[in-house]
Amino acid sequence: MTPNGQQKSERNFSSMKFRDYPLPLDDIPRLHVDDPDVSRYIAQTRPVVITGTKLAEPALKWDLDYLQENIGSGMFNVFEAKDRGHKFMYYDPKKAQSNKDFKPQMQSMNMSFPDFVHRLRASRPGDNRLYLQQALNDTVGPALVQDFVHFNWSWVTAQQRKYNWGPLTTNLLLASMAGNVTPAHYDEQENLFAQVQGYKRVIMFPPSQFGSLYPFPVNHPCDRQSQVDFENPDYEKFPKFRIAKGLQTVVGPGDVIYIPMYWWHYIESPIDGGETISVTFWYKTTPISKTISYPLSAQQKVCIMRNIEKMLGDALKDPEEIGSLLHTLVQGRYEDSHKLMDQT
Ligand code: OGA
Ligand code: FE
Repeated sequence: MTPNGQQKSERNFSSMKFRDYPLPLDDIPRLHVDDPDVSRYIAQTRPVVITGTKLAEPALKWDLDYLQENIGSGMFNVFEAKDRGHKFMYYDPKKAQSNKDFKPQMQSMNMSFPDFVHRLRASRPGDNRLYLQQALNDTVGPALVQDFVHFNWSWVTAQQRKYNWGPLTTNLLLASMAGNVTPAHYDEQENLFAQVQGYKRVIMFPPSQFGSLYPFPVNHPCDRQSQVDFENPDYEKFPKFRIAKGLQTVVGPGDVIYIPMYWWHYIESPIDGGETISVTFWYKTTPISKTISYPLSAQQKVCIMRNIEKMLGDALKDPEEIGSLLHTLVQGRYEDSHKLMDQT
């Protein structure tokens, strides 16, 4: 128990059905907002589930009926997974255009919210899955504006100031079907992720496990995504995935999870539940180069590697050449230092 009488992590989720992965997973801590340890975790850029923030309290009533009624007449981005898949792996549409070999696992569509709800309700087992992911914008109706205004901005703005984050960039609305999966990736912003309807399992890995998660090359449309299929890992191709060690939790209505920048996260809705709804609070950070200090953190190393990959891609023009150039650079000279970016 914490000083505030909150249970630390224990919640019984055994009634919910999630997929199985061959991974050792510890618990992400679960703390009440008044617990002084919350700021310790955030300051150290470590994930934590924060209860009692009331961050998106007015959104706890955002079920599909309420949203359909009040969200306004704007258009919403809805992903459809191909071939009845359940993975919604994000890709950069611009990079996809210039990469002819790339076959996306999902397609993006634009529709009104009522059309989305209609398609969800008409959906039968075996139909392609849908996942709505749309930034909230000024097309939302007046009731939603009121809900939005009554988010706990004073708390979240205090966090932004305390940790020296940049501006809020996006509140992404995520409306998922049961069983949808967002595969492991990292983002380049700080995220306070508010769960408002249903439950989601979140699996995370620190940036120091970059080497075990095998991100696609920086020029690939799935840059920032892990190449490893968690349900069926190819250990021949990705041997270090065997030593990957993650953290996990299940977030429910009213919970906020801090997803630090560059932390890998894998998010899934239970197979046997209903739809789930979440809202992100994404914040820019101060440029990493301004806060540089030694020894470099794993986050800083990931940032440097991304920049070097980008520079090489720009300089060589042909992304195919990057690997061979890096090989030539390392071969016989730096091979013994390969443990640098391994597990901490
Ligand atoms: C995120 C994210 C995916 C999901 O908030 O950064 O990746 O399915 N969310 O909730
Ligand atoms: Fe993400």
